[in-house]
Amino acid sequence: MTVGKVSDRVYCLSYDDKDLDLFESLWPLPLGVSYNSYIIFGDEKTILLDTVPQRFSERFIEDLKGLVDLKSIDFLVSHHLEHDHSGSILALLREAVNCKILCSSFAVNLHKAFFNLSENMVKSVNDGMSMDIGGDTLTFHLTPWLHWPDTMMSFLNLEGVLFSCDAFGSFGALNGKLFDNEVDLNIYLDEAKRYFSNIVVGYREHVIKAVEKLSSLGLNFKIIAPSHGPIYKFNPLLIVDKYVSWSKPEFEVKVVLIYGSMYGHTKMLAEAIGMGVESTGVRVASFDASRVNVSFILKEVLDAPVLVFGTPTYDANVFPTILNVLDFIEVKKLGVGRYASIFGCYGWGPSAYGILMGRLKSMGFNLVEPFLTVRGAPSSSDLDNAKKFGVKIGELALKFKK
Ligand code: FEO
Repeated sequence: MTVGKVSDRVYCLSYDDKDLDLFESLWPLPLGVSYNSYIIFGDEKTILLDTVPQRFSERFIEDLKGLVDLKSIDFLVSHHLEHDHSGSILALLREAVNCKILCSSFAVNLHKAFFNLSENMVKSVNDGMSMDIGGDTLTFHLTPWLHWPDTMMSFLNLEGVLFSCDAFGSFGALNGKLFDNEVDLNIYLDEAKRYFSNIVVGYREHVIKAVEKLSSLGLNFKIIAPSHGPIYKFNPLLIVDKYVSWSKPEFEVKVVLIYGSMYGHTKMLAEAIGMGVESTGVRVASFDASRVNVSFILKEVLDAPVLVFGTPTYDANVFPTILNVLDFIEVKKLGVGRYASIFGCYGWGPSAYGILMGRLKSMGFNLVEPFLTVRGAPSSSDLDNAKKFGVKIGELALKFKK
């Protein structure tokens, strides 16, 4: 846990989670994750912004008591009801007896559904509504779908602090640090990209909308304070620019090669294709889908213009771990605007390839044909053909060079 001063009126209470294996029971956390709650001390009002997961409640309440008399908290701004931010609401309200909750109108019913909180405890705010806290004003901006329909942000006007909740967040515990100039940003920007590609990417058009909306208001951002990952105080627009570039997306000249291979034959083709791609000077990100969590694959897919899928036929279908990757790419809407091709070795029948072709087409990929399929073990001439296939794929990726 780290408690730190963010600006004259704002403190952050940040909790590292290094025990959770999978965020949302899906995404690995090799570097952990942080949950950031904030408190604003106005001259007239004291406002808490979001809480932390329930298993941190006891510590959170004790730490809050070190900063403030809980009875003096006027409002909890609940930007987003997901439990990593709302999990300590009930523990808070047991002691913060004068605290009312402010949230979007969508979230009012969610607070009732999850916490049985009555309407006199939970008030909705309108888009653009401001609250005078004494010495500064806090303005509420509805930013739906970042990353639930209930989501909103708050902006502390004079101090220029944007409380952005999930948006502009990242994976990665903070290890006692809080700010962008205290951490190795390369690590956190990489984890931010994985967080974006795992959690936010399906709503990327809403990132663009939110940034355009906030920019059009002429807000003077001095600090971006997300609910996960470092606070951007020394270069606040860096993470905003990154989120915008990932939302568009701006493609890197590279090929992502994703394969499943039971006995190593499709893997042999994958390696030869990779060599062919690399001979064109294009980077290859190659994944054995049976051994790499889809979280890391999505991070590379995010800004890749060309994907190649390798599969044997398995139960007359596509290999299951490839189907799993396809499901995620489909749900995250990452097919549209990209190119894809197919390769693989099969035994008793090639039915996987027609099924895979149909899936890729339905996901919006532009298909690159002919595909490369081999019956049985690949011969040396098959591997030569695979290299040539890789050269074609690499040349296609080069068309995305700026
Ligand atoms: Fe960090 Fe959508 O919750």
